Amino acid sequence: MNVKPVGVIGTGKYVPERVLTNAQLEQMVETNDEWIVTRTGIRERRIAAEHEATSDLAYAAALLAMKEAGITAEDLDLIVVATVTPDMAFPSTACILQEKLGAKKAAAFDLSAACSGFVYGLANAANFIATGIYKYALVVGAECLSKITDYTDRNTCILFGDGAGAVVLGEVPEGRGFRSFELGADGSGGELLKVSGGGSRNPISEQVLSEKMQYIYMAGREVFKFAVRIMGTAAEEALRKAGMEKGDIDLLVPHQANIRIIQSSLERLELSPEKCMINVDRYGNMSAASIPIALAEAVEEGRVREGDKLVLVGFGGGLTWGASVLVW
Ligand code: UT7
Repeated sequence: MNVKPVGVIGTGKYVPERVLTNAQLEQMVETNDEWIVTRTGIRERRIAAEHEATSDLAYAAALLAMKEAGITAEDLDLIVVATVTPDMAFPSTACILQEKLGAKKAAAFDLSAACSGFVYGLANAANFIATGIYKYALVVGAECLSKITDYTDRNTCILFGDGAGAVVLGEVPEGRGFRSFELGADGSGGELLKVSGGGSRNPISEQVLSEKMQYIYMAGREVFKFAVRIMGTAAEEALRKAGMEKGDIDLLVPHQANIRIIQSSLERLELSPEKCMINVDRYGNMSAASIPIALAEAVEEGRVREGDKLVLVGFGGGLTWGASVLVW
């Protein structure tokens, strides 16, 4: 089987209008702007409207990505939505999106790898195109984390936001496109970051609700330590597989969980801040949506040129991690 070079041919992003600032959070929980900014780098985040669900955000981002790619919904062969906040248990958000877009011939499925979901999604979809099975794939990272956040828990509610980022993958000229993927998981750390209610282990019940198991639980300090270690390791492994070195990186597009985690990755990869996309200050942590939104903004801001070597890298619940080297 011939393997075709596969890359990103269109990007798009959407964030809800409503802004939640640190000053507003000060009115909701015992916290303050100084603590949030110094510990996380976050100043504000976007919050979906009551009527908005993940597929609505995904739809808006997908339209822009398809426009940039110069394709229509009917050209799509595959839709992958990476999310931990699907519209509902099933049908999948990808199927709901397929219907909204009118992408009649596209296969569609959701992918669950938390904040690493977008990179996992890229790896999956890229394989279908590389092998010639499909021509165009839409990969979306979309989340409404506000809907699973406990706004009385200061450990978590200051961190999360809502948004969607989308890319269209297709064949690209030789020498460009994805050069490597490094995906990993460590289920032994599953308890550190979870929503334990609402699934088959703990179906929705009065008890589940009273114990707030429908909300995100996170052991922040432990996840932080894991993140600092794995971001560097995963990025280095992706570079090694691509036959590249740290010095080759033109732009790092990291998961936006905490500015301190991003800064430690920059130190480990010996990169200056100009070589890194940072938007955690404006959006907080949007799980699977963080990397594709950062990528879409990098394109929007003219920070990616043909031939540039990008490293995408993320980590999250599972525990999981994912990194990729992409030549633009
Ligand atoms: O997408 C992947 C998932 N998540 C992450 O990547 C998050 C990883 N973790 C983190 O980013 C950080 O651990 C946090 C930002 C969540 C917390 O920062 P930290 O420096 O690890 O703080 P800490 O949890 O060690 O808490 C330090 C203190 C505690 O007080 P004591 O026990 O020292 O008296 C907390 O109770 O800060 C307190 N604290 C707060 N204070 C003001 C915790 N949350 C807040 C808050 N405002 N919102």
